[in-house]
Amino acid sequence: MIAIGSDHGGFELKQEVIKHLQERNIEYKDCGTYTKDSCDYPVFAKKVAEAVVNKECELGILICGTGIGISIAANKVKGIRAALCHDCFSAQATKEHNNANVLAMGARVIGPGLALKIVDTFLDTPFSNDERHIRRIELIED
Ligand code: RB5
Repeated sequence: MIAIGSDHGGFELKQEVIKHLQERNIEYKDCGTYTKDSCDYPVFAKKVAEAVVNKECELGILICGTGIGISIAANKVKGIRAALCHDCFSAQATKEHNNANVLAMGARVIGPGLALKIVDTFLDTPFSNDERHIRRIELIED
């Protein structure tokens, strides 16, 4: 199960990502926002982050205008490693090296075509399980 959330700036792209998850038969939990009305991105960052740390969902996807605010907010939740990615190389590397559990994107930065490729890369790339990467992740969480 994938937790997904956005603010108003990311609302339309969130709907595109949800459509894509449906097409791939991937279960998701839509944590909002549910309209284009102006709202506060930390609220949705927290909802998605909590669904991931509570293990209700394995991974999260967060979208705001830039992806910056919503990733900063998600990374305040203990156990969250949110990665802001606007290219597929970063999406692959952050799963392999950082075992990122939340993908953040900015809907005002990239278009839906690239965003969906980034989502696929993030979801389909496993963690390397390399000892050095495990050690470094543990150092972050200390
Ligand atoms: C909302 O206007 C915008 O500030 C927000 O979506 C995001 O870009 C914040 O980092």
